[in-house]
Amino acid sequence: MTKSSNQALDVSISGWGVALPEKIVTNDELSQTLDTSNEWILERSGIAERRIGGTTSGLAVQAGQLALESAELGPDDIDLLIVATTTPDDQVPSTSSKVQHELGLSCGAMDINAACSGFVYALVTGSGFLQAGCERILLIGAETLSRITDWEDRSTAILFGDGAGAVVLESSNGGGQLLGWDLSSSGELRDILFAEIGGTIYMEGREVFRKAVIAMSESGNTAIANAGVNPEEISLVIPHQANIRIIETSMKRLGIPLDRAIWVGDKTANTSSASIPIALGHALAQGQIKKNDLILLVGFGAGMTAASAVIKWGETNG
Ligand code: ACO
Repeated sequence: MTKSSNQALDVSISGWGVALPEKIVTNDELSQTLDTSNEWILERSGIAERRIGGTTSGLAVQAGQLALESAELGPDDIDLLIVATTTPDDQVPSTSSKVQHELGLSCGAMDINAACSGFVYALVTGSGFLQAGCERILLIGAETLSRITDWEDRSTAILFGDGAGAVVLESSNGGGQLLGWDLSSSGELRDILFAEIGGTIYMEGREVFRKAVIAMSESGNTAIANAGVNPEEISLVIPHQANIRIIETSMKRLGIPLDRAIWVGDKTANTSSASIPIALGHALAQGQIKKNDLILLVGFGAGMTAASAVIKWGETNG
């Protein structure tokens, strides 16, 4: 089931922040306890190391604070907080309620769980709230996947990490636009990738890989078509950072050169909802995004969900 839109909405990303735990775990370190090797992990996934530690709310607060500072906003300026996470601190209440309190916000707060597509789901949701009257929204993707990773399972333990990324969305300031988007879910594929409450991640890696490539390219293409642009006009792609081979194959299917894709998964591994805002923050820090650039955000994840958005970039602080 898919739903997409070609209605251009005024949405600017005016600030951003990234938070990663200090502790680095390299492939060689994992090889000391698992029957694997740095070469195998690098060749199959492109991942060299991951950051492990902290709490989902703690990382979210750090990233959110940085995003507020870079947008030059205070807590009272924010009309809504959305935290995308698949690893909430607690079952109840939402992680966003804790983050809201710790950031000193006085607005409404909610979590979104769409697995690794969560940040783009939150971006589209937030854009809808901007049209409904909110002026500024703090969006955070935050995860501690290490808490739901089976560290004795070499087929999954090599893939995941912890971290958070945040952005401030604004309706009226900056001249940016959400030009087109696409959200989908294929719930019948639930069994190839899941973690039960209190359990660890189960994944049929090869099947997830196959579905991910199809989902990323179909969803990305739909959002590009909805935006009314051609793939060649996309300046930069910020894909979910799961596996460099998934990105390589998806970029071919999207018809966009690979050197336009951001890849930071070598340093972070897969941080689910956090991976796209972390990669976006990296691109901004490197000065790779300028006003009027067309940026494609594209994610896929358990569910199986897929989500894409084409943004015309406005002014960014920070
Ligand atoms: N080290 C060494 N060997 C390994 C490891 C490891 N860490 N893991 C598996 N193997 C072995 C397998 O046992 C298998 O051995 P066999 O041939 O003797 O049976 C062999 O390597 C090949 O295994 P495959 O699973 O076929 O390897 P593949 O090339 O598919 O790579 C991988 C595995 C990296 C997991 C890949 O399938 C993948 O990236 N899949 C997508 C995963 C993904 O993106 N998940 C994110 C989901 S997003 C979310 O919502 C959390």
